[in-house]
Amino acid sequence: MDNKKLKAIEQFIRATFNTKQPIGLHEPKFVGREKEYLNQCIDSTFVSYVGEFVGKLEQSLSQFTGAKYVVATANGTLALHLALLVAGVEAGDEVLTQGLSFVATANSIAYCKANIVFLDVDKETFGLSYAVLKDFLEKNAEVRNGICYNKSTKNKIKACIPVHVFGHPVSEIDKMVKLCSEFKIKLIEDAAESLGSFYKNKHTGTFGDLATLSFNGNKIVTTGGGGAVLTNDQQMYEKAKHLSTTAKVPHRWEFFHDQIGYNYRMPNVNAAVGLAQMECLPLFLKNKRELSEKYATFFRDLGICFFTEKKDARSNYWLNSLILEDKSERDQVLTYLNDLGIMCRPIWQPLYTLPAFKEAKLGSSLGNIAWLADRVVNIPSSVRI
Ligand SMILES: Cc1ncc(COP(=O)(O)O)c(C=O)c1O
Repeated sequence: MDNKKLKAIEQFIRATFNTKQPIGLHEPKFVGREKEYLNQCIDSTFVSYVGEFVGKLEQSLSQFTGAKYVVATANGTLALHLALLVAGVEAGDEVLTQGLSFVATANSIAYCKANIVFLDVDKETFGLSYAVLKDFLEKNAEVRNGICYNKSTKNKIKACIPVHVFGHPVSEIDKMVKLCSEFKIKLIEDAAESLGSFYKNKHTGTFGDLATLSFNGNKIVTTGGGGAVLTNDQQMYEKAKHLSTTAKVPHRWEFFHDQIGYNYRMPNVNAAVGLAQMECLPLFLKNKRELSEKYATFFRDLGICFFTEKKDARSNYWLNSLILEDKSERDQVLTYLNDLGIMCRPIWQPLYTLPAFKEAKLGSSLGNIAWLADRVVNIPSSVRI
């Protein structure tokens, strides 16, 4: 890329964010009732696992997404682990997921001591490819007595985790639900990045058996640290809530825990921030979509590929992405902008190249992942308020 173009990008981003200071990739904004709710929470003394804000946040998430049940958790990684436990994933089972995601997706499977099978993504969405998943299952899976087995490894295939990357809905997620149901596999959507994103007018995270969100400080809505499990299934909801609260059987004073549980619940103090953030979500979404439109026009005129939402999708544009010509151009842009205090990041290193997952099975060719890993650059995407 020539220097004139690089300079134009720098100047456009600076003008868009209207600052000479360093510009972050995605900064949190606290413009609502965060401090008011935090004060209420502290005054109440209920800062941990009892208190009104956790329930209120869960209700607000349920209302916004349309998911019937929500369990707020301490972060999105634990939400994924909890969802896998609820899905019945055990040591030695196989879990299918995309080879391109934040490491937490794969880590949560490893926490269950399950075997990961990495599959390729769709170049158009960054999400798991329906065609690749279908091909893998048709060639490798069989259902016996209501249980899905991998014909060659003889392991049970228990779950599949597609990821709505950078807020862009996985394409054909509705068909994926049907396919997984036919193969008796639980579908868990990793919707950590896609609060406010819809596919065919239905909120991401409400298609599968279970879904997870993240409210980390860099997400569209933050609780400092936090996450949630979404489901429409009452039994799964009850299991998630029970496991996340140390598997304690409710009683006025007795401490009886009926299995090994987890302390995964979101504290009230975090939920207080989250409730205020949820009230701002419509404003954040509008603001972020305006930014992505501005970027789209600018990069079109510059002849650079700006990644946009695809058919049937309405993205929250959590992170705005460029697709550059090759790895050397990618590195050139990353170096130039980061040197000037404009934070830009590549997409993740493919998970199967990380030391912890080098032994994991590759269930398909991973050509699209390798292609994207060489070309994607995320550019500043914060709400501008
Ligand atoms: C795709 C994806 N999955 C899972 C997570 C884990 O969430 P957390 O950081 O809240 O543990 C994140 C984000 O951080 C993510 O981006």
